[in-house]
Amino acid sequence: MKPHTSSKRLSPKQRLRIQTRHRVSIERFGYQPQALYWSSREIQQVRFDILARVFAQQAPRREKGAFSVLDVGCGFADLRNYLWDKGLDIDYVGIDLSEDMVQSARFQYPDIQVRQGDLFDQDFAAEQFEFVLLSGALNEVVESDQKGQKTGQGSYAKAVIAEMYRICSKGVAFNLLDARNEWVASRPDLQSFVPQEVVDYCQTFAERVVWEDGYLDNDFTVFLYKSAETVEA
Ligand SMILES: C[S@@+](CC[C@H](N)C(=O)[O-])C[C@H]1O[C@@H](n2cnc3c(N)ncnc32)[C@H](O)[C@@H]1O
Repeated sequence: MKPHTSSKRLSPKQRLRIQTRHRVSIERFGYQPQALYWSSREIQQVRFDILARVFAQQAPRREKGAFSVLDVGCGFADLRNYLWDKGLDIDYVGIDLSEDMVQSARFQYPDIQVRQGDLFDQDFAAEQFEFVLLSGALNEVVESDQKGQKTGQGSYAKAVIAEMYRICSKGVAFNLLDARNEWVASRPDLQSFVPQEVVDYCQTFAERVVWEDGYLDNDFTVFLYKSAETVEA
């Protein structure tokens, strides 16, 4: 696939930092949620539980075929089996910046497609996914240092969110760390957001925006839909 020409692509320095961080965590923990910087399997799955609500109005299986799903920052691609176990018929593609994560995901789930790179490395001109999901991949601080200029905090995350919406045909779901949580806000290595500010931003381009918090102390989830109507089965 042709690389995206957008200036929003991560710099080599940022890529290397994220890749190194995950190489080290896999070497240390192996195939464990801790390698993904989740404290436990339960914490990972609470986030999946909420993300899966994006399918709420959909029949679990359709005669038309599986739902196409792109999982951005898929890690070990555990979301795929989670959704399958829920009875959702999905055609899954994962993408992750970390080469080591991609290799591990392919090893865990040899039958699925996992791509290596950043969302902006892909040319989605001829490709669309019904649902585009993201869990935890925007939790690290990312500052664009292209041309020596630092952009405002969260500008990369905002670009990713807008791109997820652009390439989906039905809906997007993503989670972010909640800046209202003191522990999260105090961590210089973590990127966190005020939910209402993210919702306001998403309302500038998305047809319908819904958000949810309260399932964990430090996290919230946003759902974006292409249709203003509740999606029918
Ligand atoms: C906290 S882990 C979550 C993994 C998976 N979504 C899950 O919940 O099991 C974050 C993942 O996002 C990946 N990642 C971080 N920044 C990324 C980016 N800009 N593009 C793609 N993947 C990214 C990391 O390599 C890592 O595998």
